[in-house]
Order: sequence, then structure tokens, then C-alpha cells
Amino acid sequence: MELVIDTTCPTQWNFAYKSDDPRLDELYELAKRDQWNVTEDINWDQQVRDDSEILDRSEDMFAQTKFFRSLSADTQAQISANQTAFMISQFMHGEQGALLCCGQLVDTVPDIEGKLYAATQVMDEARHVEVFYKYLGLLDREYPMDPALKAVLDVILAAESWQAKCVGMQVLVESLAMGTFRMMMRASADQLLRDIVTLTARDEARHVSFGIISMSHEIPKLSQDEREQLEDLAFQAISILFGENGVGMGGESLADAGIDPAEAMQAVAAEIIESGDMSMADRRLEIVREYMVPNVEKVGLMSERMRPKYQAAGYLA
Ligand SMILES: [Fe+2]
Ligand SMILES: [Fe+2]
Repeated sequence: MELVIDTTCPTQWNFAYKSDDPRLDELYELAKRDQWNVTEDINWDQQVRDDSEILDRSEDMFAQTKFFRSLSADTQAQISANQTAFMISQFMHGEQGALLCCGQLVDTVPDIEGKLYAATQVMDEARHVEVFYKYLGLLDREYPMDPALKAVLDVILAAESWQAKCVGMQVLVESLAMGTFRMMMRASADQLLRDIVTLTARDEARHVSFGIISMSHEIPKLSQDEREQLEDLAFQAISILFGENGVGMGGESLADAGIDPAEAMQAVAAEIIESGDMSMADRRLEIVREYMVPNVEKVGLMSERMRPKYQAAGYLA
């Protein structure tokens, strides 16, 4: 996996120290007020559930399939434990990607209020890396970064304009994080994980706000060409994450439980076709439809040129 990503996005000084965006000033105040400490503000003494019981299986569509239910109790438990370790691992790696991206934003956003706000986010993301690393240490295994998640973060890290980094990170990846954490709150049966996700999601909500405030202000000022590049980037990012080889489709958690992922996917696909129930596919796109696409629209990147592409990919509600 490539560890060095080149970017030509210029670092900018700004000597106009007076802020002219009160909404970002307010967000900066909230960010300073709501800092928390992984060591002190989480009760690490509480008992963690068994790895296979951290996520509630009734919230997992795969666990509802006939295929899953036909497996032995032991294999089911192994798959659930692996899936949990896979998800927490992706949180940890994704948080590192966020840390790197918003470090770049401090350098590259032109306005002073944007730089100060982004600096608070650097600390937020550092804390998120720390907290998920610490939680993962309580589980039996850890997984490498999902290639699709890595690919999308690399596109953002390598982007040549701060606007592209801001759209990619603050509007798309942060919306993805919000959606994923909300789902995690629904599915987590482990109180420690719930405590972690509650505090982390509060930070991520500010990060999304930063993206919406700065980009809805910036995008109308761009040329048509520049705007279209951002529109394409937004669609590309969603497609990498949720397309055919998207996040979490690798099936490592199945393989590590002794199940052939291709065979499992075939069996589940046959079940879906037989029942005509598309809710499993819909569930996968819930985050795109409910969290990502609405924010693409809010910042003005859902043009008439793009809408049919979103429609065809099933990304519109
Ligand atoms: Fe984060
Ligand atoms: Fe974030």
C-alpha cells in the first residue's frame, strides 16, 4: 500500500487576521469548548462485550439471510467478531486519513478563520485515531485499510486545489463518517463503543458543518469549469466507496471465518433475486442517500449534468 502521496496544492499565508465569517468563528468556539480527552473522558474500566456480541445481529442484513442462519453457531460468532474488528479497523485508518487531509487544509485554505478552524479539526482527528486504536486493542484482531477507502482518501490527499480537498474530505468523507456512526449507534450493543461513538460523532458533526459553510460560500464564486471538476470529484468519490469494488465488499471477515466469500455472495444474491426483496442493497446505499447526497446538493454540486448519473447509480432517494 502506497504510503507517500504527492500533492502540488500550494500552502498559503494570510496576513488578514480579521475573520469575515462569523459562522466559522462560532464553529471554532464550539470546537474549543467541546474538546475531550480519550484518557479521561471515556470510562475504560467498563466491561467490553465478547467480540461476537458487540454489534447487534438484528441490525445486520447479512445476519438475516438464510445463508448466514444455515452456518454453525460458532462460525456465525466468528463472522460477527471479524466484521466488528473490520469496521473498527476502518474507522481507525479512516481517521488517520482525515488527520492527514485536514492537516493539509490548515496549509491550503486561504482564509484565516478557515485555517484556525481546521487546526481544531486536526486535534479532533488525532483524538479519533487514538480512541479507535485503543478500542481495537481490546479486540482479538485488526484488519488493514480497505483499498476503496484508501483510494478515495488518496484522491483527496493528492488533489491540487483546496476546494477539491474540502469537498472530498469535509463534505463527502465527513458525511460518510456521520452516517456510519449513526448506524453504529443503532447497532452497537457495547456501552464502551457507544460512549466512544457518541463523542466522536459530535466532533464529526462540526466537521461536516465546516464543509457546508465554506463550500456553499466558495462554489458559487468558481468558474463553470472549476465547478464541474468538483462535481465530478464528488461523484467519483461516492462511486469509489460504494461502487462494485466499494468498501467492505472484500469479504475478509468471511474468509477468516473459513467461508468462501464468493460462494457466500452468490448464495446471498440468489436469495435476494428469489425473494425480490431489495432492502439489503438499499440498506447499503442508505448512507449515500441520506447523508452524502443531501450535502452534495447543499453545497451546490448536484447540477442537471450530474443528476442523471446519480439516478442511474441508485444514489438518489
Ligand atoms: Fe474523525
Ligand atoms: Fe472528521
